[in-house]
Formats: sequence, C-alpha cells, structure tokens
Amino acid sequence: MTKLQSTRNSAADGPTTDGRASEFGRAYRPFEHDPSFSLFARARVEAPVFWCDEIGYWVVTRREDIAPIFQDPDTFGAEIALSPVADLAPEAITVMRDGGFDSVPVQVNCNPPTHSRVREIAGTYLNAKQYRTLEPYIHAKTVAFLDAMEGKGQVDLVADLAYDLPALVIFQMMGIPDADVNRIKRWANNRLLLTFGQLTTGEQMACARDMVAYWDYCRELVAARLVEPQDDYPSALLRERNGDDDVLTIKEIESLVFGLLLAGHETTTNQTGNAFRMLLSHPEAWQAICDDPKLIPNAIEETLRFQASVVCWRRRTKRAVTIGGVEIPAGANLLLATASASRDESNFADGERFDIHRRNAREHLAFGSGIHFCIGAPLARLELRVILEEATKRFPNMRLVDDQEIEMVRTIAFRGPTKLLVELGA
Ligand code: HEM
Repeated sequence: MTKLQSTRNSAADGPTTDGRASEFGRAYRPFEHDPSFSLFARARVEAPVFWCDEIGYWVVTRREDIAPIFQDPDTFGAEIALSPVADLAPEAITVMRDGGFDSVPVQVNCNPPTHSRVREIAGTYLNAKQYRTLEPYIHAKTVAFLDAMEGKGQVDLVADLAYDLPALVIFQMMGIPDADVNRIKRWANNRLLLTFGQLTTGEQMACARDMVAYWDYCRELVAARLVEPQDDYPSALLRERNGDDDVLTIKEIESLVFGLLLAGHETTTNQTGNAFRMLLSHPEAWQAICDDPKLIPNAIEETLRFQASVVCWRRRTKRAVTIGGVEIPAGANLLLATASASRDESNFADGERFDIHRRNAREHLAFGSGIHFCIGAPLARLELRVILEEATKRFPNMRLVDDQEIEMVRTIAFRGPTKLLVELGA
C-alpha cells in the first residue's frame, strides 16, 4: 500500500558539520515560492547540495548533479515520490485507513520491475498518437472558454480557463462526465496539499476524507468499466489485463486511475497560469507570438524552463553516494530542485533571463527525465499550444492587470498562480 506516514529523514541523517551548506538549509523556505530562485542561483555556486532540516531532505540544485540521478534508478529509488512530505496526524491516517484507502504504488512512486511492467501497459494508451485524437476536443473547448470571455473586459485566466480545461481533457480520456469537474478538482487539490503541503491537523482531516471519497470514485469507475467497457483509459487497462493479475491487478488499475486524475490536470492547470503570467509580463514575448504563432512551441518550452508547474521532485538513495562533493548516506531523501537545474548557467546561458527564442529551452527538467519521464508531456504541450494559439488570435491586446498580488499554490513541488487577472483589450 502507498505509505501514509511521511518519509522525512531526521536531523541525525543530515550533515555532521555546520557549514556554508547549512546556511542555505536554514534560508530555504521549501513551501514558499519566493525567494527560492535567487537562493538557488547562489547555492548552485556556493553549496550545490545542502541539507534542509525543515523537511529532512538533501536539496540538490545543479543540473549536472540532478540529470544523472534521474538516469540511475538502480541507485536512486522513486518510492518516496508521493509520500507526505510533512508528518500526517494519526487522526488523518485513521480516517484514510478506516475509509478503506489502499492504493498501491504504480508508475511515479515505484521502481523496476513493477514500474517497467506498468509503464509499458499504460503507454499503450497514454501516447502521442492517442493524445492527437484529442486535439479537436481541446480546440473546441478552448474556443468555448474564450467565447465566454468576450465582452467581459477583465477576467481571471485561472478561474475562467486554466482551472477547468485540462481536467475536461483528462476526463475525456477517463470517460468521466464533465459535471464531475468541480468535485474531482477539489479532491485532487486536497490530495496535492496532503502529500506536498504543510497543513494543520484539521485541514489534514478534511483532506483525508476527500482522499477516501476520491479513491472510492476511482474504484467505482473501474468496477463500472469491468461490467460495461467504453472507449477510455480504464477500459483499455482492463482489456490489456484480460483477467490476468500478472499483467495488472485490479488494484493497480484503480491506483493508475487515481494517479492520473491528479497528474493529468493540476500540473497543466498550473502550467497554463505560469505560461500566461510569464508571456504577459514580458509584453515583447507576447507580441512576438501574436505576430508569429510558429514561435509558440519554443515559447512553451521557455515557460516550462523558467517557471515550471513542478519545481522539484524526489528520490531516495539506495546506497551511500557522493553528490556535488557531498557524502550522502544510503536511505537519504533527496529533493531534486528541477526548477533550479532548468536555470543553471552551466547549461543555459543567461539562465535567469526569460527568452522565448532560446535555442536549448527544451533541455529543461520540468518533466523529469529517465524511466519516469512524464508520460503526459506530449499532451501538456498540445494543450498549451492550442490554448496559446487561440488566445493570441482572439485577444492579442491582452495584458496583466497592474499591481495585482499574485499568490502561488503553496506546496514543496507544485506551483502556479491561484488567480491571474487580465484585461482582454479591444
Ligand atoms: C505541464 C504539465 C506537467 C508537468 C510539469 C509534469 C511533470 C511531471 C514530472 C516532474 C514527473 C516525474 C518525472 C520523473 O520522475 O522523472 C511526471 C510524471 C508523470 N506525469 Fe506528468 N507533468 C505534466 C503533465 C502531465 C499530464 C497531462 C499527464 C497525463 C496524461 C501526466 C502524467 C504523468 C504520469 C502518469 C507520470 C508518471 C510517469 C512514470 O513514472 O512512468 N503529466 N510528470
């Protein structure tokens, strides 16, 4: 079963000497968006790997250290990828246990050989060819959201576009009715906070109840497809399984559905917000993609590099290793600061500058790398392209509302604006 306790290392697992690296560890605010980028820029030079006692993780900041970690699953396990980063209250764990929550690690938080088996089967449906069949739907929904904005003057791009659209796309793949968007978005958001956030006991209890409801929903969905298969992802998994537990168990299928109902839209919702924010706060970049839509794909890569919706990911050492000159024991938690790696000057010239013409923008680590590389990356890119193509055509004079306070989602890994006010222009 997926671990419900947090997996934090204790201070005893941290550095034995109090040095420069510990200063970074004390200054780093893992749940806050700011000032992480300026801190990372200094850390990459002065202390590329530092211990953060607040979460009990070694933070790795340089691209040259992070990329090989992703490529080496024999040394760096993925089993902690979805473990709660902060300790859960026993009451919250009881709510989930008593509620029958028993999803098992599949894909992002499991290691070979289970991962290889599951990924191969998931890939028979989750692939670029299948995603392309969704383009007409993505296009039609985007146009409908933009139609609804006409004449409004000012809108919130998160509430009026980015919040629903990626969920509706995943729901198409899952065979879920549009009417369920709101409750599934709420469950998914609460799951994200429980796993990656820092909540009070009361908040944890509310999220734990939602996790149970969310899990029940996924189990019922799979049960319904067992009786009556449809043209969707759960039915495709059941078809591949063909009654054979050695191929996939029913619990693994339920867990895959549970996983995708989060991974498939929260990330893209946040990335859509980040992309608009970056492009509109650099008006010359917005103007350039309005004038020449062929620039949009690379502009998307630059927004993923400069302001990804997933800013770090996690691994655990299987043996003692040396990373960036720092000795790290076996069983240590690593926070791979991918957003830092994606600005690393050793790979990206003038990496702290947003530049939609950057030639190697696509070398960012926003989608991870190696055997767990995001299986939904082609879909996220497709959605972002269609959204930006249509929005630039329809509202070329769009601009950010001045002096708005932009609040970012507050977790260690997921970031995006909770609200983004824009003037649509004439
Ligand atoms: C901008 C949007 C997205 C971002 C930034 C993002 C980011 C990530 C990251 C960082 C990983 C972990 C990679 C690793 O461990 O090496 C991942 C894995 C994954 N993502 Fe995404 N993702 C996005 C969109 C999506 C979408 C749309 C889907 C659904 C189709 C999806 C499904 C998954 C799955 C299933 C995995 C696990 C893959 C595996 O372990 O084999 N993601 N994603």
